[in-house]
Amino acid sequence: MKAVILAGGSGTRLHPLTLVTNKHLLPVFDKPVIYYAIEKLVDAGVTKIMVVTAPHHIDSFVRLLGSGQHFVPKRTTAKQIQIVYGIQNEPNGIAYGLFIAEDYIGKDNCVLFLGDNIFLDDITPTIQKFKKGASVFLKEVRDPKRFGIAAVKRGKITSIEEKPAKPKSNFAVTGLYIYDNTVFKKIRKIPPSERGEYEITDVNKLYLEEGSLHFNLLKKEWFDIGTVDSLHKASQFMKKQTRK
Ligand code: DAU
Repeated sequence: MKAVILAGGSGTRLHPLTLVTNKHLLPVFDKPVIYYAIEKLVDAGVTKIMVVTAPHHIDSFVRLLGSGQHFVPKRTTAKQIQIVYGIQNEPNGIAYGLFIAEDYIGKDNCVLFLGDNIFLDDITPTIQKFKKGASVFLKEVRDPKRFGIAAVKRGKITSIEEKPAKPKSNFAVTGLYIYDNTVFKKIRKIPPSERGEYEITDVNKLYLEEGSLHFNLLKKEWFDIGTVDSLHKASQFMKKQTRK
């Protein structure tokens, strides 16, 4: 399965850190943020990745990641993974970022990875077992108003809302999604939200209406490094991990 890592967006919550650089190039302990996403995918057996970012940052990513030569896949005999690049002209939403990769994905299923998310769980089994519909990864959080939130009843998602003012649960929909190829048809159907973005939550709602939105509960740590606080926490955590 191919993957798309989104590394665009505006990063305004991290100003002044992101005034001249991209959030995904900032360090979390000893590596740039985007390394965590690439390594997680490579460990899960994904060897073909499109990194989507803004036009003014694309050269930094190419300099950092090149064709993927620093990442050696463990599960195949290939010498290196293959990274290609997509350009998102404006930060007009996560769903739009994925849409840019439509031709690259072709007829396959795909993994969408938000490049500012760091996962500790092993995602290999879910990726390998995936057949159709959509699969999301939930994690209980203290501040549900910051995320896409899923309500769950009897082992099924019953509703999903983007940054709700009155959250129905504490289960955040994290930035890792596995989709079948109907995702592109679904992206075409959704209108932009009030904030002018094509929301991934609206795509997930279409899967929910179809009865094909599945979920996994994350057991280990998860970070969304969209704020200075979480960036700092992730760095501290990784430092401790490496010393173990
Ligand atoms: O981290 C999980 C959360 O990510 C989910 O719970 C939310 O449902 C989802 O909307 C998203 O919320 P955020 O507020 O954290 O999204 P943010 O704007 O920070 O963007 C997330 C990632 O996607 C980040 O790596 C930048 C990238 N991005 C974002 C937008 C809007 C793009 O590449 N292009 C874009 O147009």
